Amino acid sequence: MPRQLQERLRAELRRELPPGAVPQAGDTRRLPLLQATVTETLRLRPPAPLALPHCARRTTRYGAAWTPGSILVPNLLAAHQDPDIWHHPEEFLPERFLAPGAPLRALLPFGCGARSCLGEALARAELFVFLGQILQEFRLEPPAPGLLPSLRVRAGTVLRCPPFRVRMVPCQAPA
Ligand code: HEM
Repeated sequence: MPRQLQERLRAELRRELPPGAVPQAGDTRRLPLLQATVTETLRLRPPAPLALPHCARRTTRYGAAWTPGSILVPNLLAAHQDPDIWHHPEEFLPERFLAPGAPLRALLPFGCGARSCLGEALARAELFVFLGQILQEFRLEPPAPGLLPSLRVRAGTVLRCPPFRVRMVPCQAPA
């Protein structure tokens, strides 16, 4: 995560939370940049690149006509890279979710509809709280200047990134 973004996130945490407090799951409105950072991470690299297979129970029009019994496997990773919807889709830009009119309906890391992920609220709360607490305490740095983790991924049931090292440098709030 770029250093400048980390600094802005820490500033938001310091400004919005009382001294000594840690972010809670209910703080998403008062910490919009942290929330947008979690959302952008889920957009750029959705942990599950494909949703579960869905079976059309009746003739369904979605792009093409799907007859009963057709199996659809929504490609969530591809949906998140669609340049007709996402401005510079390959870039990590949390601000896109702070701007009015962000295409939230096209954001599908947890699938959508009646069979979407049952754990979405829990997963989002964990990502938000843990990332916030880590950034309150540490600056995340590459092990050597310029040695950033690769964004290449190996597809499977979940996306896997190549192993990487990160330095967690304790940081103190300014006195
Ligand atoms: C970042 C973490 C997670 C991601 C990205 C994720 C993503 C997904 C996706 C894409 C689906 C398929 C939805 C579809 O086919 O439309 C799914 C289904 C599901 N997920 Fe998650 N999930 C996460 C965490 C969790 C957690 C923590 C739980 C449980 C506590 C959970 C429980 C489920 C269940 C039960 C389903 C099946 C829902 C159904 O078929 O009705 N997930 N998840």
